Amino acid sequence: MSQSDSVRIVLASRPEGRPAPQNFRLEHAAIPAPAEGQVLLKILYLSLDPYMRGRMSAAKSYAAATEIGQPMEGGTVGEVIQSRDPAFKPGDIVLSHSGWQSYAVANAAQLRKLDPKAAPLTTALGVLGMPGFTAYAGLLTIGQPKPGETVVVAAASGPVGSAVGQIARIKGARAVGIAGGPEKCAFVRDTFGFDAVIDHRDPEMAAKLAAACPDGIDVYFENVGGHVWDAVFPLLNTFARIPVCGLVAHYNASGEFPGPDRLPGMMRQVLSKSLTIRGFIQREFAAAQGPTFREEMAGWIAEGAVKYKEDIVTGLENAPEAFIGLLEGRNFGKLIVKL
Ligand SMILES: NC(=O)c1ccc[n+]([C@@H]2O[C@H](COP(=O)([O-])OP(=O)(O)OC[C@H]3O[C@@H](n4cnc5c(N)ncnc54)[C@H](OP(=O)(O)O)[C@@H]3O)[C@@H](O)[C@H]2O)c1
Repeated sequence: MSQSDSVRIVLASRPEGRPAPQNFRLEHAAIPAPAEGQVLLKILYLSLDPYMRGRMSAAKSYAAATEIGQPMEGGTVGEVIQSRDPAFKPGDIVLSHSGWQSYAVANAAQLRKLDPKAAPLTTALGVLGMPGFTAYAGLLTIGQPKPGETVVVAAASGPVGSAVGQIARIKGARAVGIAGGPEKCAFVRDTFGFDAVIDHRDPEMAAKLAAACPDGIDVYFENVGGHVWDAVFPLLNTFARIPVCGLVAHYNASGEFPGPDRLPGMMRQVLSKSLTIRGFIQREFAAAQGPTFREEMAGWIAEGAVKYKEDIVTGLENAPEAFIGLLEGRNFGKLIVKL
């Protein structure tokens, strides 16, 4: 690789089911030049997130699909190398959405400057960034946990789930986490301080969840779907709130979902228990709640009320394998690539 090379990973083909390494292609390109109002960034960290599976698919969704041959998209932290905007100078560190590439040109108006002394830079992609905000906005706006209530969340060792449980406890609720495997479960209980944790791979999962929620479930923060939803649904209390944040158990599914059709039975419970089921994409709350979130979350981290775990992989070339693992629970904490 020469000094003038930028490395990027593009979408080579659309996956059917589980993504495979051949769906990605590593390419070299010339380092781009910024125009007026733009900056050139050297990317330091790339966030890997479950939503990227949706961008690999051409199916209609809330955001446009990544085109074949285009770099995979993603949140990034980068250093300004060259600036053609008065608001930024070389050496500034910024949050951007530059995707899976080592250099990128970005519009200055879309960047947020980061203070490296205020918090580790990686937190801008995790607990103090999009996933932490997703937990905050979804739980507090839709879930609205009250003291003494029971809040259940799966993918509880990840950046969204871990923040959901810890914020629920700050608000006086009981937090019950669901995670895959004994190591993650122990971390969720001992470090994140959840009141109870259930391993979703345990064949007794449904019975153990019922035992951990003797007063039923008031808020179920839906991150996964699948067999976890099946275990949660009968335990929901009247007036339970269900922020539907993600369905990672289904992201690799293709074709029709297998029967039998349980929708009429589910709708009967939605009606008779007055359930609130509300899907959301975090950005709908970003303008109104982003600044308050960053201030409140930074305070909770400083006082030890919120802890976080990061899983850092080194080298852009390792991003595809790490991303494939994310959809299967091989990550342990917020997954980030250090370039
Ligand atoms: N709506 C929004 O705006 C928004 C924004 C950000 C994220 N999200 C969603 O929030 C969820 C969590 O995101 P994250 O970034 O915090 O991910 P994450 O927890 O770092 O990673 C996903 C985790 O999902 C779990 N998982 C995968 N398949 C599963 C299955 N079949 N059953 C149960 N658990 C399974 C795995 O953990 P275990 O090993 O514990 O099973 C895996 O580590 C995702 O669904 C994501 O799409 C939504």
